[in-house]
Amino acid sequence: MKLSVAEVRRDRGDVMVVTLKHPRRPLLPAFTAGAHVDVHLSEGRVRQYSLCNDPADASFYRLAIKREQEGRGGSISLQDHLAPGATLQVSAPRNHFALSSEATRHVLLAGGIGITPILAMSHALGAGTTPFEVHYFTRGSALTPLIDDIARLPCADRLSYHYDDDPGTRVDLAALLASPAPGTHLYCCGPSGFMNAVREAAAGWLPAALHFEAFQVAADEGFVAEPFTMVLRSGRRIEVSGEQTALQALRQAGIDHPSSCETGICATCECGYLEGEAIHRDAILSPQAKLTRFMPCVSRAKGTLKLDL
Ligand code: FES
Repeated sequence: MKLSVAEVRRDRGDVMVVTLKHPRRPLLPAFTAGAHVDVHLSEGRVRQYSLCNDPADASFYRLAIKREQEGRGGSISLQDHLAPGATLQVSAPRNHFALSSEATRHVLLAGGIGITPILAMSHALGAGTTPFEVHYFTRGSALTPLIDDIARLPCADRLSYHYDDDPGTRVDLAALLASPAPGTHLYCCGPSGFMNAVREAAAGWLPAALHFEAFQVAADEGFVAEPFTMVLRSGRRIEVSGEQTALQALRQAGIDHPSSCETGICATCECGYLEGEAIHRDAILSPQAKLTRFMPCVSRAKGTLKLDL
């Protein structure tokens, strides 16, 4: 979709909040809390941003873009060039960080700009009856994105702030997550260090009750890519060298497989596998999904992997 930038405003923590509308239609495709869109930049670059507005109002999408000085340049380019009246190409919303309909209680943890999907979830949960609580961790109130948007939520009293620079607000993650009650689901979005700390503190939770949304794959510097073989349903064998990804090998073999981020965070390239030992290197698949699903842009395998392609 080519959407119009209706409004742009600067927010705390080097964040730009962008409101997008359809140039002609009153409504955009509906989305559910936790969804993101792919934003297409110049030269084929694609970035994922969560929608942070109330999913009940599909008249606009709102993104919060943090300026990542050490990133790959996408956020800087967006912040420098987006202005009211500009056009932005975005995909339809997709959601692999959805609220569980089976939960009897929700605990939501956001670190910094990871508040974006959590804010949409807070809107949705605030309109329902399932109990929930939100914990928002940042370096300090002056650097806390979307703090004014949160203050306006009818359910703002469900949110607790935890600031690094204010010892009185800090909370011990291990204590917070020590005793998971049956039916409680945990959602977490933020920088990889924060998410790793939450994973560690939530080690005693059932895997099916844990939901993580990553915008980058955790660094894995010691990983050595070994060659492996993919077998398609037709029986065709495709060799993947140590220097290429499974996705590149598929394309080299003439298979036009879709992709977007090519960093394991968007699920565009997701496919199934039927046999073999996959080495999962994406940031999306749940432990259950990893038994049958595969992201060829980053993941690999030991020996031979039979794909459902
Ligand atoms: S292209 Fe995004 S996960 Fe593979």
